[in-house]
Amino acid sequence: MALRTLFTKKSLALASAFRPIAVASAAGDLRLGSGLSQARGLTVAALPDLPYDYGALEPAISGEIMRLHHQKHHQAYVTNYNNALERLEAAIAKGDATAVVRLQSAIKFNGGGHINHSIFWKNLKPVNEGGGEPPHSSLGWTIDTDFGSLEALVQKMNAEGAALQGSGWVWLALDKGFKKLTVETTANQDPLVTKGANLVPLLGIDVWEHAYYLQYKNVRPDYLKNIWKVIDWKYASEVYEKETA
Ligand SMILES: [Fe+2]
Repeated sequence: MALRTLFTKKSLALASAFRPIAVASAAGDLRLGSGLSQARGLTVAALPDLPYDYGALEPAISGEIMRLHHQKHHQAYVTNYNNALERLEAAIAKGDATAVVRLQSAIKFNGGGHINHSIFWKNLKPVNEGGGEPPHSSLGWTIDTDFGSLEALVQKMNAEGAALQGSGWVWLALDKGFKKLTVETTANQDPLVTKGANLVPLLGIDVWEHAYYLQYKNVRPDYLKNIWKVIDWKYASEVYEKETA
């Protein structure tokens, strides 16, 4: 199992998710989802390393699922997103408006898949490293205020995740406009920002079948019940505190 790397949580963070090719500007905005450098070239996405072994989340999520999910599914989003960006660059250079518009769907789907999975890996942590430990400090208090209790929030996210038709994501988000927490769902690979520019993802749970089927078959509620055992609330708390500072 070679993917246990020296990377810290920060190494999975934003800048590592993209790498420049050609002569991309080092000053480009490399936030997740930005995609293009500011000048002279194209910044493409790259598959981030996981900060834990594939089997480290067992028994909640099997190593086989994690390996396929990361190496095949996330990699496919990265590859297809980069291909779409290259075609977009060519279409823009040619002034081909039809091609530019036609590429928007592929960019949204594959770019969204890359954004969402890059967050998802950071939302998980092995039990022996603190996975599943309830949130403390300000996020914990805010969950109690906004939802009644952590258990009530979990029930709400599980219910909305189980009820989501087809494939998609269920999110715990910070609404920076209303300054409160909210639960949202997105279809397919739509990233949370498609539900509102003020929404910041604290925790996203992948409810695509590829995230659970090999272990849980068609019983999505069992997957949702068990994933809380490996949720990294410390990461969600850090994002919350940064965004509310
Ligand atoms: Fe996925």
